[in-house]
Amino acid sequence: MNLKILVTAGDGIGPEVTNEAVAVLQEVAQIGGHTLTFEAKRIGGIAITTDGTPLPAETVAAALASDAVLLGAVGGNEFNSLPPDKRPEAGLLGLRSALGGFANLRPAFAFKELAVNSPLRPEIIDGADILFVRELLGGLYFGQPREWNKTTGEAWNTMRYTKAEVVRVAKVAFELAQKRRKKLTSVDKANVLETSQLWRATVIEVAAEFPGVTLEHQYVDAMAMHLMNRPRDFDVVLTENLFGDILSDESGVITGSLGMLPSATVGGKVNLYEPIHGSAPDIAGKSLANPLGAILTGALILRHSAGLEAEAAAIEASVRKVLEQGFRTPDLARTNPQGFTVLNTQQMGAKVRETVKQLLAASC
Ligand code: NAD
Ligand code: IPM
Ligand code: MN
Repeated sequence: MNLKILVTAGDGIGPEVTNEAVAVLQEVAQIGGHTLTFEAKRIGGIAITTDGTPLPAETVAAALASDAVLLGAVGGNEFNSLPPDKRPEAGLLGLRSALGGFANLRPAFAFKELAVNSPLRPEIIDGADILFVRELLGGLYFGQPREWNKTTGEAWNTMRYTKAEVVRVAKVAFELAQKRRKKLTSVDKANVLETSQLWRATVIEVAAEFPGVTLEHQYVDAMAMHLMNRPRDFDVVLTENLFGDILSDESGVITGSLGMLPSATVGGKVNLYEPIHGSAPDIAGKSLANPLGAILTGALILRHSAGLEAEAAAIEASVRKVLEQGFRTPDLARTNPQGFTVLNTQQMGAKVRETVKQLLAASC
């Protein structure tokens, strides 16, 4: 196995967490005799500062020439007054668009060890295991026209979907549901929005091809509540772009921290892998960031782009083991009745590497 990975670490805690993810991947590759080659390119705020654009052409070219892209995070408070198309976030949206992946898979599951860190009661979240399938290239993020007209004091965005865009992402979600617990919840706002009516009608049509999967529909507002009340009832959750952005961050509450959640974007020319959290300016540069979401994102690269299922599972098992042993980054030690050992970003990365080495050695 020889895989070329482009690393776009970005801003804030992006470089801190991707460094740890890359180190874990290198460790796993070395043990298994696989060749992973890493190249780094700029994106986001660092690219604005250095290259004058949030997405330099050479970053796009290198991404398209790679087998997988690992992104850290983009964004920083110093860019907050820029218009949307000049901001760091525009670099990420441009990269997503160039790579063409339209199905963003965001697994969210409750680690038993982290139940104490969640504001939800353990008996509510125990066993929760949800896979969000978020449409990533349509809706309000990309719809035209969009503008803030400062003269008239009006601003508008366009929420637009085509049937074909809904069909392709729905198929991915149904296929995944078929391999899981065979339940699909489609989220919309069909009581108000035409785009959601198209969404719902199309999902019902696609469902006919997947008779083994039970389909239900939820309005997004109710879904936000159901997720907190009864997260165990959901298997695959299919959403349009903005609803998925919001609900997947909310699901960080089930897991115990936003810093735990990975993602993989599939369906395009090159898969894009990114933890779902942002650049966390409030903790950047202090080695306080939880690298586990980025490390679990690395596992998704091995699973979806390298076919290395055993190695991906070993990384996931190592994360669980490290948590079982009581090691925590500060975000995971909000309450500390059990006297956890609090580690910084690099120490947590080192623990996972040490553990994955032991696990893979034991399985050889
Ligand atoms: P955020 O996800 O960066 O942070 C939200 C909260 O969660 C903060 O308190 C932060 O400290 C905490 N947090 C996030 N990741 C963590 C980790 N790995 N370990 C420990 N704590 C963690 O969201 P925000 O503050 O709303 O946004 C900050 C910037 O990040 C903005 O510019 C935003 O646009 C950008 N952003 C980028 C991405 C991305 O690049 N994929 C995703 C979300 C937000
Ligand atoms: C995410 C982020 C991005 C999004 C931003 C930074 C463009 O919030 O990946 O969840 O909204 O998709
Ligand atoms: Mn988000």
